[in-house]
Amino acid sequence: MISDLRVMSNDEIAFNTYEMKLYGPAVAQYTMPGQFLHLRIGEGYEHMLRRPISIADVDLIRNVVTIVYKQLGEGTAWLRSRKPEDLINVLGPQGNGFNVNQYSQEHLIVIGGGVGVPPLYYLTKQLAKNNKVTAILGFQDQSSVFYEEAFSKFSEVYIATNDGSYGEKGFVTDILESQQLTNHPYYACGPTPMLKAIQNKLDGVSGYLSFEERMGCGIGACFACVCESTNQQGYVKICQDGPVLKAREVIL
Ligand code: FES
Repeated sequence: MISDLRVMSNDEIAFNTYEMKLYGPAVAQYTMPGQFLHLRIGEGYEHMLRRPISIADVDLIRNVVTIVYKQLGEGTAWLRSRKPEDLINVLGPQGNGFNVNQYSQEHLIVIGGGVGVPPLYYLTKQLAKNNKVTAILGFQDQSSVFYEEAFSKFSEVYIATNDGSYGEKGFVTDILESQQLTNHPYYACGPTPMLKAIQNKLDGVSGYLSFEERMGCGIGACFACVCESTNQQGYVKICQDGPVLKAREVIL
């Protein structure tokens, strides 16, 4: 579905990290956590490609969707310059998200790194209705930390920073170990090396990984996001088969 959403706010919430709220009737369709929006960047022919940004939260009463992005290049700089009331053209919600009905009365772990954290927030809110949730969130350093308080409303939260300037020094996998959380079903989102480390650490445990693959079309047509897979056809398209896939389905 393609629609225009109106910007409500666009604020810096951590170092170089921005939270944008958008609203419009189309948001009523954004019910599954883990899906992403493919935002059209720029006017005219300047940036013909869209940028995939995951859904961080949805308010289905007010039809407001929240996204979080890092300003990394020209495309996200354009996003950064959007002001309240501007319109953004959105394709979505795209891809397969997280199944939130698989467990009930379980202790589940959500594990996020950097901009892999936001989609886990909408997931945690939904999982916490029927389960105990522990969130393990990893960031570069103290200035990059965001959403700790938001997660703490629905889950127990542990923070890891690479330099130890906040929370535990090290990686999310160190917290899995130190808090003895290596036997619970899990949901992870973040850079591929982090997903690989988690999958290795939680070998034999049921889990889902959400990938941050570089994308082109976002609709399964261009093969820009293909990854080698253990499935029968030997590959998956992250934009269409994912971004959420079962652990070990992608060869990391
Ligand atoms: Fe084009 Fe996935 S981004 S096939």
